[in-house]
Amino acid sequence: MSPPPSWAAACGRPRPLTPLAMALARAASSAAATAAVKKLIVKHVTVIGGGLMGAGIAQVAAATGHTVVLVDQTDEILKNSRKGIEDSLKRMTKKMFTDKPEAAAQFIEKTLKNLTVSTDPVAVVHSTDLVVEAIVENLQVKNDLFKRLDKFAPENTIFASNTSSLQITDIANSTTRQDRFGGLHFFNPVPLMKLVEVVKTPMTSQKTFESLMEFTKALGKNPISCKDTPGFVVNRLLVPYLMEAVRLYERGDASKEDIDVAMKLGAGYPMGPFELLDYVGLDTSKYIIDGWHSLEPNNPLFAPSPLLDKLVEERKMGKKTGEGFYKYK
Ligand code: NAI
Repeated sequence: MSPPPSWAAACGRPRPLTPLAMALARAASSAAATAAVKKLIVKHVTVIGGGLMGAGIAQVAAATGHTVVLVDQTDEILKNSRKGIEDSLKRMTKKMFTDKPEAAAQFIEKTLKNLTVSTDPVAVVHSTDLVVEAIVENLQVKNDLFKRLDKFAPENTIFASNTSSLQITDIANSTTRQDRFGGLHFFNPVPLMKLVEVVKTPMTSQKTFESLMEFTKALGKNPISCKDTPGFVVNRLLVPYLMEAVRLYERGDASKEDIDVAMKLGAGYPMGPFELLDYVGLDTSKYIIDGWHSLEPNNPLFAPSPLLDKLVEERKMGKKTGEGFYKYK
């Protein structure tokens, strides 16, 4: 698109700058340079929570040259996380390096060298640039963790939460570094999904925000910026749709299989809503909707579902437990 004629005329021939304009231009460029220098370049990352999301975030960070410590509650969980990362790297490198098994093996070795594990977040947080939290979706548990880490992490360390449904502000308020706190909302599966929602609270500093944007770009992701509102962008649109699918099924209007087929073939979605719910985890989905329901009890889009509640009570959480709306054994 070409600019309008008046704009083109005004910009067509550069006019000589007055001394004041030159001084202002110099000040602006030096301010920009200072801001650029001040942006924190993240090299060392601590990822807390070695589940579905945390393991994926750790994998991508390690694969893009960051040194990563992955933290979880037990050695057994971390063993599984590491195995999951190794398997995922094997699958990915098969596609990345077709007919070059040596290059694939080197890539895996290099990535795994960047990754260590720990069960003690306090012991590893002292030298980290960024903490990315991906533990259970529970405000009290997240607050307890960050409150503890706040005492041991260096002054300039940035904290970020991968929460799907909680307010970043409510988590940041458990620390004394609200200006160095933001949201980094990744999508599942992390190694494949390009989007990261970078969440800026009213207290997040510009430096923190830009550092987080820069970090997600260094991971090879595509960040978007959003405010600290329920569900950010994607989930605010997606979760009400998934809950409507459950309600449709609960009313007996259609089978879950037919609803999945309908949305794949009729709307062109890669997965049906029940396949997606099982993939995300029914417990995570329930936490999200319960949280929003408590914020806006009269909003019918946020109404809880008896069927979803029952499945979670029976510990049918979806793919990760072998059964949700569908069986996976
Ligand atoms: P998950 O249940 O697969 O993994 C959570 C891990 O955190 C578990 O391994 C657990 O042992 C560990 N953990 C719990 N409390 C801990 C603590 N105090 N210290 C260290 N580790 C602890 O959960 P998932 O799905 O990975 O979700 C994690 C976070 O990411 C949640 O906040 C969720 O809302 C968010 N999220 C989830 C997405 C999904 O598709 N599942 C997508 C985007 C965000």
